[in-house]
This record gives sequence, C-alpha cells and structure tokens, in this order.
Amino acid sequence: MGQILIKGRFILLALVLMFFVSACEKEVVRTEKAEKTTPVKTTENKVSTNEKIKIGFSMDTLLEERWIKDRDLFKEAVEALGAEVEIMAANGDDALQISQAETLISQGIDLLILVPHNAESTATIVHKAHLAGIKVIAYDRLVKNADIDLYVSFDNEQVGEMQARAITKLVPKGNYVYIGGASTDNNAHLIKKGAFNVLKPLIDKGDITIVYDQWTKDWEPANALANMREALKANGNQIDAVIAANDATAGGVIQALMEQGLAGIVPVTGQDAELAAAQRIVEGTQSMTVYKPIKSLTTKAAQLAVALAKGETVGEYQKVNNGKIEVPSVLLSPIAVDLLNIDDTIIADGFHSRKDVYQTMNK
Ligand code: GAL
Repeated sequence: MGQILIKGRFILLALVLMFFVSACEKEVVRTEKAEKTTPVKTTENKVSTNEKIKIGFSMDTLLEERWIKDRDLFKEAVEALGAEVEIMAANGDDALQISQAETLISQGIDLLILVPHNAESTATIVHKAHLAGIKVIAYDRLVKNADIDLYVSFDNEQVGEMQARAITKLVPKGNYVYIGGASTDNNAHLIKKGAFNVLKPLIDKGDITIVYDQWTKDWEPANALANMREALKANGNQIDAVIAANDATAGGVIQALMEQGLAGIVPVTGQDAELAAAQRIVEGTQSMTVYKPIKSLTTKAAQLAVALAKGETVGEYQKVNNGKIEVPSVLLSPIAVDLLNIDDTIIADGFHSRKDVYQTMNK
C-alpha cells in the first residue's frame, strides 16, 4: 500500500512539475515573440477609439525660406483635419534624418511624410516604416528605389522648362551657365531635364553654348557663389545668361555677377519666390522665379496623409517611376513669375506683401 502511495505521489508531483514547466515555456515564447516584432500598426483601433491620428513629418532642412512655410502650413492643415503632426528636420544630415525617422516610427505614428535630403539613402526609412506597418508619402522630393506609397509635389520638370523658356526669350543666343541644385535631390535632376528640354534645340542649332554646368552641394548659396565666380573666371566674364535652379542659388550667382559689375546686365532665373528674389526682380537683378503656392501642396498632402492613415483608399493618380515602382503621384502646377505678373501672383496670393516686395525700391 505504502509503495502505491509513494508512486502515486511521484506521478502527481511529475504531472504538477510538467504543467508548471510548459506554462513557463509558453511565457518565454510569448515575450520572445513580442520582443522580436514591433507592433504592426492597425489604424482600425485608432479610428474606432477616436484617438487622434498622428502624422510624422521628416524634413531635410529648414534653411531655405520655403520650408518654414511648408512646416507651418502643413501643421495647420493636419490640425484642421483633427489630426496631429510631429515634425523633425535634419538640416542636410543623412544619418540624422534616418535616426529621426526611426524615432518617429517608434513613437507610434500612423503615417510618415518624408522630404528626403538624399533621394537614395532615405529608401531605408521607407523600408523601416513599412516593417512597422506605416505608410510613407514622399513630399515635394521623390525617394528613389523604394516602395513609396504616394508622391505629392509640383511638376518639377515644368519648373525647369519655365526657367529656360523665360531666359531664352531674353537671351536667344549666347554663352549660358547652368547652376543646378543638389545632385542628391531628385528634383534637381528633374528641373535640369526640363531646362534642357527647351535648351537642346537651341544648343543643337549653335545659338546657345553651355560654357559652365555644375550642381550646387546642398543648394547652398555659398556653393553657388563659388561656382559662379569660377564660371566667370574661366570665361573671362563672357557670360550672357545664367539658369540658377532656385532663388537661394540665384542669390549666390547674382553676388558673383555684382562683383564683376554684371548684376542686372546678365539675366538670372530662380525658383521658390523667396522674398529676396521678389525684391531682386523688382530691382532688376533677377529676371524671374518660379512660384509654387505652398498652401495648395500642404493642403493636398495633409488630406492624403490623414486619409491614408485612416486606411482609406485615395484616388487614382498619375504614376512617376522612381527606379523601383510606378509611384502614384500628385503633381501640382508651378507658376512662372517676372516683373509683369508679380503683383497678380505672389502678391495677390499674399505669399509676400507688396510693401515687403517693393521696400528696397522705396528706400
Ligand atoms: C527642392 C525644392 C525647391 C528648393 C530646393 C532647396 O527640392 O523643390 O523648392 O527649395 O529643394 O531646398
């Protein structure tokens, strides 16, 4: 009898022990699994709980005037849709932009809006966001070779065509300098392609000669100034026109021309309708700029961002190839601005006040 009891207790003890061990094993599996995968985002629970949609906005830089407008107007537009936005700017530092995006992703955002500094290296951000179940919209600048969900911008090729059309009207023949944007920025390539769509026939005819052609690192005015000084020196100041990709680079170009007494004599293009550029246009040292109404871009981007974050489908859009996929894209129309229509465009829109634009003239 005693033997049976002892055996019985043994079996019981073994059973209890087995139960306990398997419970521990399950726990380990559960925690291990949890640790391995970041929780995949399901917007459903956000929408159902009326919790605010949270958008992450990873910006390249706030150094140019326009990006301040993009930041403030986008925030306004997102909040007007009842959502919230977390904004980070990397000021041209690729590693910082990637780590900032990782921070936004780990903060549980519902959608990421991205202005890449480097069109190629930011592909990893798209990959990380998708791993966390977060969709990504490329804002103003395309991310190359990545499964971007949507691209919202202005038609940048048209920007280049507008610049070249305006300046070839003023200087149909002669020596041209091309001061491009940052080669890391896909827009700089699109703008240049647009400009050369217009220039090529005139180059082939021998009417126009490109005597200098350089990208501008980080779109920095100081780099454009150095390049333009080099172009003037290399060509003995025999320059008839300059296509500068944006107003920041145009500012550097015009300073170099000023040093040679050529400001206001050699026509220069621009882009972004910066206040300083608008003032140069009324003064006569810059011939034109390309105005991109930022409010229409931020409004559109905010609408699409909140809709996608809610898991809604957005309309059918044109496609832009980014080297990997045909990205659904919304491309808004830019506006060419010179002295003749500056009042009816950037001033009429309140982009800048008439007082500010003409202030240098009233001194
Ligand atoms: C481009 C943008 C331009 C200009 C430039 C410099 O991508 O389209 O508007 O501002 O960047 O930041």
